[in-house]
Amino acid sequence: MIPTNLSKKLGLRYPVVAAPMFLISNREMLLACANAGVLGSMPSLNARTPAKLREDLEWLRARTDKPFAINMTIGLTKPDRLQQDVALLEEFEVPVWITSYGDPTEFVRRARACGSAVFHDVINLKHAKKAESAGVDAIIGVASGAGGHAGRISPFALIPYLRKNLSVPIIAAGAISTGEQVAAALALGAELVYMGTRFIASAECGAQPEYKQMVVDSGPEEIVYTDQVSGVHANFLKASLPEPGTEAAGAKRWKDIWSAGHGVAEITAVQPIEQIVEGLVREYHDTVRRLQG
Ligand SMILES: Cc1cc2nc3c(=O)[nH]c(=O)nc-3n(C[C@H](O)[C@H](O)[C@H](O)COP(=O)(O)O)c2cc1C
Repeated sequence: MIPTNLSKKLGLRYPVVAAPMFLISNREMLLACANAGVLGSMPSLNARTPAKLREDLEWLRARTDKPFAINMTIGLTKPDRLQQDVALLEEFEVPVWITSYGDPTEFVRRARACGSAVFHDVINLKHAKKAESAGVDAIIGVASGAGGHAGRISPFALIPYLRKNLSVPIIAAGAISTGEQVAAALALGAELVYMGTRFIASAECGAQPEYKQMVVDSGPEEIVYTDQVSGVHANFLKASLPEPGTEAAGAKRWKDIWSAGHGVAEITAVQPIEQIVEGLVREYHDTVRRLQG
């Protein structure tokens, strides 16, 4: 896979990020990604307490000197917890900070001071411009069809649109699950690709086996875009949603309602991360060869 300016700057072998996923990304995924040459990430809140986050960072630092990322969900995290998490990111010099759901300005200032990069995630140009002014190192454009809180703009439009209107590098997110799609995103000008759904179906991922299997078995028709679960529009696996109006609808807990994006279409097996990355690289090269005739 061709390196990009951003992947080179970060010291990544491949321009791929395993995106942060609430409740399900874990330190084993970060380590496997580091070993496979891509950037692993997890939300700081996946460590139940700051003490557990410290333990996870110590665990990672003892096992790899490759880069990894921690995500802070600004508006969804209690302020005192957020402050404790930022202090840990500074102490451990976490190489990449991913900010979402809030204003990244303060995080950029603090990350700069310890030589770390900040990626900020957006679904439109207005928020992208604000983040660019705040000084982030890259903008993650979350397109329609993404797992989690997805945007509404097609990746085919969003990536070039952001690229043409911004000077910071663009990271493409949404419905990217194969090396062919990685090649397409890079062709549109993305400097990194951001993949969540594909990594739910990884051996290292902490999701329940039934969730992983549903990602493998589902097609894009089985993804529902709704604001009924969290108040913000996000994509979910239809079979995990309660029937509207039934008693189960009220009782069903967040952790039993499973998010995934249109990228389920291309996922056919649960695999260790090393094999997922090998597959991406192989598919990418097959695509480039095919395009060159
Ligand atoms: C189960 C799940 C949980 C997610 N949790 C978060 C989160 O905590 N913070 C965040 O910034 N993005 C979160 N996302 C979004 C991903 O980081 C990423 O933008 C998305 O998965 C990319 O689209 P894809 O799933 O089509 O690859 C989540 C996505 C999924 C599928």
